[in-house]
Amino acid sequence: LKFIKVNNPDEGSENLFNFIKEALEKNELHVIGLATGGTMIPVYKKWVESDLDFSDVTTFNLDEYVGISDDNPNGYAYFMNEHLFSKKKFKKVNTLNGLAENLEEECQRFEDLLLANPLDIQILGVGENGHIAFNEPGTPFDSVTHVAKLTPSTLEVNSRFFKPGEQVPNTALTMGITSILRAKKIVLLAFGEKKRAALTKLAEGKVDTDWPITKLLEHDDVTIITDLDI
Ligand code: F6R
Repeated sequence: LKFIKVNNPDEGSENLFNFIKEALEKNELHVIGLATGGTMIPVYKKWVESDLDFSDVTTFNLDEYVGISDDNPNGYAYFMNEHLFSKKKFKKVNTLNGLAENLEEECQRFEDLLLANPLDIQILGVGENGHIAFNEPGTPFDSVTHVAKLTPSTLEVNSRFFKPGEQVPNTALTMGITSILRAKKIVLLAFGEKKRAALTKLAEGKVDTDWPITKLLEHDDVTIITDLDI
């Protein structure tokens, strides 16, 4: 596990930018796993404003709410279009369809695609409760892409993106912990005091299903970019 301490999210995004740029230059980046959320906004802004060429890169997004359509601003497909996909050309973009009639089949479709297109780099954020993607505390470590129930704490935290009175969906589709851990390299970004508990658990060095992030301890190429002193 490698910790990179930065002064602020902007510097962290710059750091990740250089990492991605180098991987592209070395021809080591063909498939990338992407996250959504507040942490990722300055990251994608940097990519969009740059001349990075992703035309030979396939993407997989970590997760999507169930029951939210592509044109709903609260959905993750919408987020990705708005911040990245409408502005940069990729070879192929893969997202989970939260409106699929058969959600189990949709998860299997996605997992099969992941197996056929191994991730070179997976980018992650982390929830205040230590979730990665929508793998909430208690999720079995051997999980692959699946239908997930969101915890009350995640619903509360994520409600900030929804308008007053709008219901946050309590179900999502998400890559599993095992799907994520298959990536060759993982880079996790965590900024601000609210992420301290999760990073502290990670730094303690004990793998614990109550803190999904701790499973990263068993991966041999993980970089944590953070503005926290841990
Ligand atoms: C989003 C995702 C989530 C977020 C996490 C942190 O695709 O997988 O695990 O990375 O909830 O969200 P922010 O960045 O909004 O603090």
